[in-house]
Amino acid sequence: MSASIDTRGLSSKQLWERAQRSMPGGVSHDGRFLPPFPTYFHRARGARKWDVEGREYIDYAMGSAAMMLGHSHPDVVAALVSHASEGTFFATVHPLEIEWAELVQELIPSAERVRFVASGTEATMLALRVARAYSKRPKVLRFEGQFHGWHDYVLQGMKAPYDRIPSLGVPDRIQETMVVCRADAQHVEDALRIDPGIGAVICEASGANWGSVPVSEQFLRDLRTLCDSYGCVFILDEVITGFRWSPGGRQTLAGIKPDITTMAKIVAGGMPGGAVGGCADVMRLLDPTLEVEGFKPPIIHRGTFNASPIVSAAAVAALKVIRTGEPHRQADRIAAQLRTGMQAVLDELTVDALVYGESSTFHVYFGNGARRCSIDQVDPAAIRSMKRDALDIYTCGLRKRGVDFMSYTGGVTSLAHTDADIAPTLHAFRGAVTDLVAAGKVNCL
Ligand SMILES: Cc1ncc(COP(=O)(O)O)c(C=O)c1O
Repeated sequence: MSASIDTRGLSSKQLWERAQRSMPGGVSHDGRFLPPFPTYFHRARGARKWDVEGREYIDYAMGSAAMMLGHSHPDVVAALVSHASEGTFFATVHPLEIEWAELVQELIPSAERVRFVASGTEATMLALRVARAYSKRPKVLRFEGQFHGWHDYVLQGMKAPYDRIPSLGVPDRIQETMVVCRADAQHVEDALRIDPGIGAVICEASGANWGSVPVSEQFLRDLRTLCDSYGCVFILDEVITGFRWSPGGRQTLAGIKPDITTMAKIVAGGMPGGAVGGCADVMRLLDPTLEVEGFKPPIIHRGTFNASPIVSAAAVAALKVIRTGEPHRQADRIAAQLRTGMQAVLDELTVDALVYGESSTFHVYFGNGARRCSIDQVDPAAIRSMKRDALDIYTCGLRKRGVDFMSYTGGVTSLAHTDADIAPTLHAFRGAVTDLVAAGKVNCL
């Protein structure tokens, strides 16, 4: 018997009305609400997904960038099916987690030791604890607008105004433990020189929000050098970029070795899971057989569902495909074609906007003379300035034409996207931008 509710004949609107009676706002994640009501999806395969009313979409959200191999990749599905009947969970050590850790070690050489967690948020939470324990300093420097999950320590700085914790329920004293800085090497050096309490730096490897405010590889190399000079632990958050920018993440392309890397999404084969990898000397503080300064284990880390067998099975299957490099060749090629095609549409419509992005991502920046700039000439503070109502018009304009982007104004590609997806995507993009022009939400130059 199927465990799902029968959605036949039900619209997204009806489902959302029902959902509000059991869940606040009818959703399980702030970002899943889209006015006037969210679209309910119930099936996905390859690069496509279907809503409950039977409409098909080309998907560029791809499970918040977790599905690098496409939805329901046959190897991942086979691994899940074969392990489902072996017992989905026993909360013990098990052989598959070793294979998973060895694959992470092989692909991410800075991950000399790996500890699994259940999400990206848990990965950054653990990474900060390990970094503080190792450096013996309380403060962590982070960058404006970058996202590291939703636990208390990483909320301040995630969105402007950066001097304010953007959520109720977080103690003000947390602010004493985090220093928010512009993603600029000189600003970092100034902050580290002034404040000896800073013992770690955490940076989203693509730059804020999966590269919507990009940082250069040189900036990452500068961070490595500065962390060495000031004795700080360098945490590279590769929750998005890990196994996407290359099989070895962005750190391999930049030629750097962070002390700690945080991973989730692709590392777990698109299943709920994550990992913290790091140099053996730092990671040994997680060894439960070790006593340091009277603490045994030195750092407490629990988590019922860490490295569950079924997630490990999916992860191992996925990383074996990632290791070939084929997903990256395909996804990067399609994303590059989309970027070129989308910019051509904008130029033809004379809309003031710039398409940019690295690897298998694409972003669109509307307004402020963007069309005449390259992305490194744009003020980072302006990039996310598009108003919510305009974003909603844009997202709805894409969805009604059968295309779904990720948050904000861009998306990600996968192994499953093909050349055949490009023309319908550009058609939908043209329609959505035309809607924005008609609503007076973007400028034409
Ligand atoms: C760079 C980065 N770090 C951390 C996280 C948090 O991961 P999760 O949503 O699995 O908690 C995300 C989520 O998108 C992310 O993009």
